[in-house]
Amino acid sequence: MIGKLNHVAIVVPDLAAGSAIYRDTLGAKVSAPVNMPEHGVTTVFVELSNTKIELLQPLGDDSPIAKFLSRNPDGGMHHVCYEVADIIMARDNLVAAGARVLGDGNPKIGAHNKPVLFLHPKDFCGTLIELEQV
Ligand code: CO
Repeated sequence: MIGKLNHVAIVVPDLAAGSAIYRDTLGAKVSAPVNMPEHGVTTVFVELSNTKIELLQPLGDDSPIAKFLSRNPDGGMHHVCYEVADIIMARDNLVAAGARVLGDGNPKIGAHNKPVLFLHPKDFCGTLIELEQV
């Protein structure tokens, strides 16, 4: 069901510092920051030849990644994003298999203007999974 790895997301306490590490120290191509109020995050994308790294910093007071950052003050890996062809079909198959979808269970529009869903980490080897329809 899942296709390519779309991105790996890393929460950082300081997006400018995280961007500088990927751009200047690691020599990668780094996008400008984009605020995503609906998701409570500001994102930067690092473009690699085979995938992307998404740097996330909390935005607003009730950011869903604020608790993660308080437990991991240096930042850390937050989720992996896999591509799917049909997100509704993928969701229905996963729910039928007993997996839990976070939130209200309906796709939201993600950072690439495509529908995304998140799956409960307890059902997937302790890793938060994002599905993105491509
Ligand atoms: Co993501």
